Amino acid sequence: MKNKITIKDRYEFLKIILCGKFKPFLKNEIDENIVSEVFYKLKKNLDKNNYKQKLINYLKKYYGSNNEVYLTSSGRNALFFILSNLKLRKKEVLIPSYSCLGLIEPVLNKELRPVFVDIDDNLNPSFKSIKKSISNRTGVVIIPHIGGTFARDTKKIIEYCKKRKIIVIEDCCQAFGLEYKKKKIGTFADISFFSSGIGKPVFTPEGGWIVIKKGIIKNFSFSELEHENYDEVYRRFSDFNKKFSNNPFHVLKRQIVDRLKSISKKNNPSFVNKKKKDLNNLSAYLILDQIKKHKENLTKRSKMANYWNKFIHINKNIKIITKNNSIYNKFFIYSDKVHKKAFLLSGVEVENGYVPLHLRYDFKKFIKTDLTNTNKIWEKIYSLPTRPSYTNNLT
Ligand SMILES: Cc1ncc(COP(=O)(O)O)c(C=O)c1O
Repeated sequence: MKNKITIKDRYEFLKIILCGKFKPFLKNEIDENIVSEVFYKLKKNLDKNNYKQKLINYLKKYYGSNNEVYLTSSGRNALFFILSNLKLRKKEVLIPSYSCLGLIEPVLNKELRPVFVDIDDNLNPSFKSIKKSISNRTGVVIIPHIGGTFARDTKKIIEYCKKRKIIVIEDCCQAFGLEYKKKKIGTFADISFFSSGIGKPVFTPEGGWIVIKKGIIKNFSFSELEHENYDEVYRRFSDFNKKFSNNPFHVLKRQIVDRLKSISKKNNPSFVNKKKKDLNNLSAYLILDQIKKHKENLTKRSKMANYWNKFIHINKNIKIITKNNSIYNKFFIYSDKVHKKAFLLSGVEVENGYVPLHLRYDFKKFIKTDLTNTNKIWEKIYSLPTRPSYTNNLT
């Protein structure tokens, strides 16, 4: 099989989608009938539940009483408000280059300076690189637990930064539910943030939250937030439900739209500091509905990881990246394109890894030290699907 995707491959791929044999990388697991009922009742004021407060109560109980919890409409907004409240004098923020726009966007919106650091073989920031990149201008270090895998240098980084009065923030957007030595992710550093948006462990159209140890930031505040009505949120849920379904027509539409978007965005990062949205009560309902299933979902995702482990084990040309200490929000592997193509042509949608931030737009202007590992591996990384609902049709 050749490396390049040919017209014949595209035709085969189209046939797989149209025959309904396609396993999309992401799939909505929220019951649309229940959501439409809740939407209707909230709108007519027949349901008076404060789901936002319920979600806060759930999260406070989950993280323990020495933590404050604040809801946001996304992970990036969570980071934006953390940075706003920190009122930093030292403007440099260390982030891994192997990451997403959602991480750099709030840093740029706050007019802070990103400094790119390298990753370890788990795709998480390495202590060695962070140590090299810290200077007397460093205000913050952010540690993402990419794919839901524990960043193994977390403790070392926190200890090193504490001595230098540098703030460490855990980015747990892909890692809700992960524990390391029985300690919950997001409670290693004093400040952390989560997302319940697209492709996250709690998979809903939007949402996020901040966890802060009591007393770390006094009077945490949000600037004026934009409120949405229930109709707008419900419309977004309906689009989400279609976009992440098995329906061949919607799958095809998503493939085409995503492709066009990626082409049109290539030279056009839009980091306009827009007014931030508040989390809607209906969105909070959706998050609660999914978050309550997180333990059951963890078991299912581990089952998926086991399945892929066995499947790949026999193929010496594919390297498994996601191993232990993971909730397998992603199951990262590393291979030549020919194997990636084989997954696609067997109907398994894979998700591309990140293009490192220092290679996107004009971001090369930001400081970076040595990104050897990032540069060496990024092009061959992708992820196999692990949505909990896939365990229903494992063969
Ligand atoms: C590691 C990481 N950090 C931050 C974010 C931003 O989260 P959101 O998309 O909810 O703004 C994402 C989302 O893609 C992410 O994967």
